[in-house]
Amino acid sequence: MNTMTDFPREKLPELLRTMPKAELHVHIEGTLEPELIFALAQRNGVRLPYSSVEALRAAYAFTDLQSFLDIYYAGAGVLLHEQDFFDMAMAYFRRAAAERVVHAELFFDPQTHTARGVPMGTVIGGLARACAAARAELGISSALILCFLRHLSEADAFATLEQALPYRQHFIGIGLDSGERGNPPEKFARVFARCRELGLRIVAHAGEEGPAQYIRDALDLLGAERIDHGVRCVEDASLVARLAREQVPLTVCPLSNVKLRVFDSMAGHNLADLLDAGLRVTINSDDPAYFGGYLNQNFLETFHALPRLEARQAVQLAENSFAASFVPDDWKARWRDDLARTVARLARA
Ligand code: ADE
Ligand code: ZN
Repeated sequence: MNTMTDFPREKLPELLRTMPKAELHVHIEGTLEPELIFALAQRNGVRLPYSSVEALRAAYAFTDLQSFLDIYYAGAGVLLHEQDFFDMAMAYFRRAAAERVVHAELFFDPQTHTARGVPMGTVIGGLARACAAARAELGISSALILCFLRHLSEADAFATLEQALPYRQHFIGIGLDSGERGNPPEKFARVFARCRELGLRIVAHAGEEGPAQYIRDALDLLGAERIDHGVRCVEDASLVARLAREQVPLTVCPLSNVKLRVFDSMAGHNLADLLDAGLRVTINSDDPAYFGGYLNQNFLETFHALPRLEARQAVQLAENSFAASFVPDDWKARWRDDLARTVARLARA
């Protein structure tokens, strides 16, 4: 039998849950669950403007990206000590490992912490220690990507880069996140040029709320190797053709897009169209503690809402996540073999 075309649809959820996959777009501060926010607030003597976990969760009714970011930056205010960053990342890694995530590239937002007086070494130290522990205890590989906040100035990004350079061995790349509208890639062209000189890998959020032109500019002015989100590329047919031709990965985050009203509903999401257009799409969780689910929930809800997506696309998405990851080719080949074995085993069962 042809494993892909004959794969029974009723086994699709199990395939999505059990196939090996890489997560390439997750903000570690976006994995802070309300329970952990309260626990850390108590541990650190931080006062929260919410009376309970339930009251905090009730505030997660977002109308757009900015309404989310306001609450997300406030939530990160409970992180003070190296152990806090370690605990947050380990909580994510435990969930990810249980979902068959074999590799995760974590975004972190140092400016959110250094602006509150938390030293850069505290942030990176705790996250790097968690990455090492995740490898040793959970068998999950990972890497850190430092993001500049685009609502702040390029001078602030340059200063942040300087502060991070003593810890250069602990991060592999640089990203660009926060409020997209009115903060075009061009604002950061010089600091990204410096990052490229330093041999850092480059990614950037673009085409989430911002226009297709920001995707072009992230590629041409920043040297982005992956585009985070990128769903608004469809507004420019020649850009879609270029993304397909160059196989630029798009790290798409379906639950995030619905929660932040980039799309009205999951059924209206364009992920299947992007795959049909031959784009190197991946599925990711963005800020799972805020958007209603981790990576497998994103896969399950997307496939449930878009019946055009079948086993073939599930495998394609997992393969894309390996292809788009910043790891040696032999790691990718091993994960692809693992994926093929998982599919064959399920098809036979
Ligand atoms: N920071 C955390 N999540 C983000 C998102 N979805 N877009 C931009 N910045 C973010
Ligand atoms: Zn993001």
